[in-house]
Amino acid sequence: MKSIVILISGRGSNMEALLDAVASGSLPVRVAAVLANRLDAAGLKVAAARSVATRVVDHGQYADRETFDAALAETIDGYAPDLIVLAGFMRVLSDGFVRRFAGRLINIHPSLLPSFQGLHTHRRALAEGVRVHGCTVHFVTPALDHGPIIVQAAVPVLDGDDEDSLAARVLAQEHAIYPLAIRWLVEGRLRLTGNRVEFDAAQDAAGVLVSPLAQ
Ligand code: GRF
Repeated sequence: MKSIVILISGRGSNMEALLDAVASGSLPVRVAAVLANRLDAAGLKVAAARSVATRVVDHGQYADRETFDAALAETIDGYAPDLIVLAGFMRVLSDGFVRRFAGRLINIHPSLLPSFQGLHTHRRALAEGVRVHGCTVHFVTPALDHGPIIVQAAVPVLDGDDEDSLAARVLAQEHAIYPLAIRWLVEGRLRLTGNRVEFDAAQDAAGVLVSPLAQ
């Protein structure tokens, strides 16, 4: 069975969704370890409670990005994972790190990329008045929030939304698409062609989200 390492910085709800999917049998991978760059990442306790190995590589202990990334890479290599899964990992990774794990490094981002790269995506989506928002799982490349897209989920933006309600709607979809993307990857069902990811099965052209949808 293929193995993954999950990198977190905070609460780890995406990590937890992945552990749930593994436990239910819908995600056929072994989670070799959960790594964090902060001792106080709440998700570490969640992982430990489920008997998943945890490690902290504290970025504060390193002089610069390169030495931190080297230590992180060495820790990851110790688990020899097939896939490195960023799940709310809030450090920008150096080009060297990204290249070392090219094709094996994926991220989830809370927007429909390439819109709203970077931080505060829900606040910015509300400020722009978009009627459709969402989340993206993508391969990580040196350009931040810009790698080939594996899967996206779109949600409506409603008139009464604030940052929290919109974030919660998007997060529910993050928890649904991340396990899906990882399953497709470990099953070898995706092919990278230039900047596009192709899927090995027929796709349904009927899926449409009209927003607002009202009479
Ligand atoms: C998620 O919205 C993810 O898309 C972004 O950071 C957040 C992490 O949340 N990269 P959690 O730690 O998985 O709960």
